[in-house]
Order: sequence, then C-alpha cells, then structure tokens
Amino acid sequence: MGKEKTHVNVVIIGHVDSGKSTTTGHLVYKCGGVDQRRLEKFEKAAAQVRFKQKKFQLKKKVKAERERGITIDISLLKFNTQKFTMTIIDAPGHRDFIKNMITGTSQADVALLVVSAAKGEYESGVSRSGQTREHSLLAYTLGVKQIIVCVNKMDMTEPPYNQKRFEEVVKGVSGFLKKIGYDPQAVPFVPVSGWTGENMITATQKMPWFQGWKVRRREGNASGRTLLEVLDAIQPPVRTINKPLRLPLQDVYKIGGVGTVPVGKIETGVLKPGMTLMFSPAKLTAEVKSIEMHHQGLQTALPGHNVGFNIKNVSVKNLRRGDVAGNAQHDPPSDVSSFEAQVIILNHPGRIKSGYSPVLDCHTAHVTCCFAELKEKIDRRTGKKLEDQPQVLISGDAATVKLVPIKPMCVESFFSYPPLGRFAARDLKQTVAVGVIKSVVKAPGTKAPKAQVCK
Ligand code: GTP
Ligand code: MG
Repeated sequence: MGKEKTHVNVVIIGHVDSGKSTTTGHLVYKCGGVDQRRLEKFEKAAAQVRFKQKKFQLKKKVKAERERGITIDISLLKFNTQKFTMTIIDAPGHRDFIKNMITGTSQADVALLVVSAAKGEYESGVSRSGQTREHSLLAYTLGVKQIIVCVNKMDMTEPPYNQKRFEEVVKGVSGFLKKIGYDPQAVPFVPVSGWTGENMITATQKMPWFQGWKVRRREGNASGRTLLEVLDAIQPPVRTINKPLRLPLQDVYKIGGVGTVPVGKIETGVLKPGMTLMFSPAKLTAEVKSIEMHHQGLQTALPGHNVGFNIKNVSVKNLRRGDVAGNAQHDPPSDVSSFEAQVIILNHPGRIKSGYSPVLDCHTAHVTCCFAELKEKIDRRTGKKLEDQPQVLISGDAATVKLVPIKPMCVESFFSYPPLGRFAARDLKQTVAVGVIKSVVKAPGTKAPKAQVCK
C-alpha cells in the first residue's frame, strides 16, 4: 500500500450561483478516488444523461445520505490530487451562508473563491451587497491564509473564453484581496468553466492565451495551468500534532448497536482508542472505544482528520455541537468565564456600547457573548492604540474588548490553539464583527460562568 496522502480541507466560497457546487461537483466526479464503488454506480445509472444531471444525482444522494449517516457526506465530497486527499466544504449560498461559512472556514486549510466571469454576474458578485468580498474577508480573518481564485463561467463571457474579461476580473479581485490582507502576487487565478470542464483537469485548448499562473511564495515559486494543478501546488498545511488534543464537535449521533458517536475535525493533537477524553463545557470524561474515518477504523487520528468516534458510558443527551474534546491528562479543555479579543466591526448600522450581546460563532459553537468592556480602540492596520475605554464603536473600528459568554463555552487564545481562537459575531442576520482571542480566563471549578455585567 502506498503512503497515505496528506489531508487538506478546502472551503468553497463565493457569490450565489457563481458555480461553487458545479465546479466542486466536477472535481469530485472526475477525481473522487475514494468512494469508487459509489461513483461507479452513478456512472452506470447515468450513462446516457449529461454530466449536469449526474452531478445533480450525486448532490441528491449526498443529501439523502447526510440525513442518514455519520461521515458519509464527507467521504463522498472527497477527491485526490497527486499529493493530497482533499475534502470539500461547500458553503451554501443561501440565507444561512455566513454561519455555515464560519463553521466551514474554521476547519479549512485553503479557500477556493469561485467568481463568475459572466456578464453582470461578476459585477453583482463584487458589488457592495455581493458576497465575494464578505466571504473573502471572513476567510482571511478566520485564518485561512491560502486562497485560490477560480474565474468560472469562462464559456459565458462575450465572446466566450475572452482574455480581456479574465484580466478585468483578475484586476478587480486582486484589488480587494489586497485590501483585505492577502498578497495578490501569491494568489493563483485560474480561468475555467465548471460546466464544460474547460481547464479543470486538462490544460485548456480554448484559452490559448492562458499560459498558466505563477505565484511567488516565501517557500519558493509555484506554477501550473489547470485548477487541479493549482490545488496540487498549495502549501501543505502545518499540522500541530505536538499540541494537546482539541476536537470541536460538529454533531453527536446515537447509532444503534454502537452507542454515542461524536463527530468532528481534529484541530490539534492526536486521538487514539483507549484515551480518556475531557469534554468542555460538558465537564464529562469518557474513554474512546474506536475511531472511524471515511468508514474505516483508525488507530491514530491526526489534525485535519474528520472523524467519528465511539465513547463509553456517555449519553448522547449530555454532549452537543460546540463542545470541545481534549485529552483529560494533557491540558484538558475548559470553559471560560471571560476572554479578551481584538475585533473589527464590519457591519453595524448603529453604535456599539458595552453591554452589546451578539451571537459568537467560534469553532463549532454558537453562544451569545456580551461586550462587557470596550478596552481600547486601535488602528486597524498598525495595531496602535487610538483611544482608551471608547464609549462607542462603529463599523470600520477595531478594538480590544472583554467578552463574557452568557452560557458555558470553551474557547482558547489564538496563540495557543488558533482554530479555537477566532470568531465571527452575528446580529441582525449579518456578521457584525470578526475577532481573534488574545487571552482567556478559565472558569473556576465546576461552576458555570455567570454573565454579571450584562442583562
Ligand atoms: P449556490 O450554492 O446557490 O450559491 O450556487 P453555486 O455557487 O453552488 O452555483 P451552482 O454550481 O449551483 O451553479 C449556478 C448556476 O450556474 C447553475 O445553473 C449552473 O448550471 C450554472 N453554471 C455553473 N458553472 C457554470 C459554467 O462554468 N458555465 C456555465 N455556462 N454555467 C455554469
Ligand atoms: Mg451550491
């Protein structure tokens, strides 16, 4: 057997209808090496229908299976490049998208931004009300430092496969990626058609003007032509195996004949059968009986692995999404009574004062937290202090604030456990702020923290 490929989680972001699902469906269909048996079934059943219909069936099947199974959705939306096994997180473009985006990106190593080059679609995607910028800003703030831009629907430019249009999109998108904080020189832009498959897997014939992309990186330059090549040329994620275990739960299932099965992605550390886990804020300990990934038993699960694991003597009722599992013997996770964070206010129609209590999305948890104290207003770019104890914060401001969760919650400083140390704050159905956690105050003993300061 060959060496197992490095796992990479890719979050797909972009405006509604830009072609996120079509593009990823194509990749999974063409390169999905893992669940071959299932794909073959589709091939047979769909021998006469067009690709689009096949993809549609694939999507429906995924949905049906998601409702039934535990890790099946993940196993299907996987594909292989030469170097990596990639798991796709397709952030849906509907109402709930920000929330899903945040829980999605908090697990992602790379963001694939899909931008439609079609007439009018590009323009509305990058407009103020469009989602292209917002998604990109979220990805950046939440720590996804590698981004690939897929300029899609090149078959729909006027005339089709138009170089000028591609260049226009590259220029526009580079401009705002730079403002957000990405280095456009390090971002590959690839023209494709997710629909016809142009330049996805094999080098484009229809866009002879596209000689490939070349990016400059500290670790060395990279180049290539197709979307698959770009994905294969990403910087492998640095996995933090040596840190203590942190595994935020995505879901907890009760499986007949098996028992309680929490599922989630290992962010740091290692998970092994026989280990005693501490769950926070549930404050429960339990022994791991077995671990499964993509339907196969595992003896050692590593950072980046999406796993389901079976635990002894814990009822499914006592655990929930948002809880964090860690090693009971090695820096076990704890809930916090407060934490200090640097936030950037993105969209808030009015003035934010102390006492403001939006919902925070941090790893897989969603908990209302109170802005108990506005400590300092700071310059967004330089980080320099502008004002002590500001009275109000408005859109565009950056500040250091003290936050108090209204119910028990486990978070960490960004410095110790990055994936558990960044969040988005939601209110009025939008993302009002994003932030990174500078320090935490662990809740003493077994008592839940009380939200004294806020109503
Ligand atoms: P949401 O999940 O709703 O945000 O949409 P999405 O970004 O996943 O887009 P989806 O893949 O569902 O595609 C939207 C529409 O655009 C569909 O009708 C696709 O058939 C069409 N489409 C996607 N990619 C291409 C492309 O490369 N060329 C053309 N012509 N149509 C495309
Ligand atoms: Mg979609």
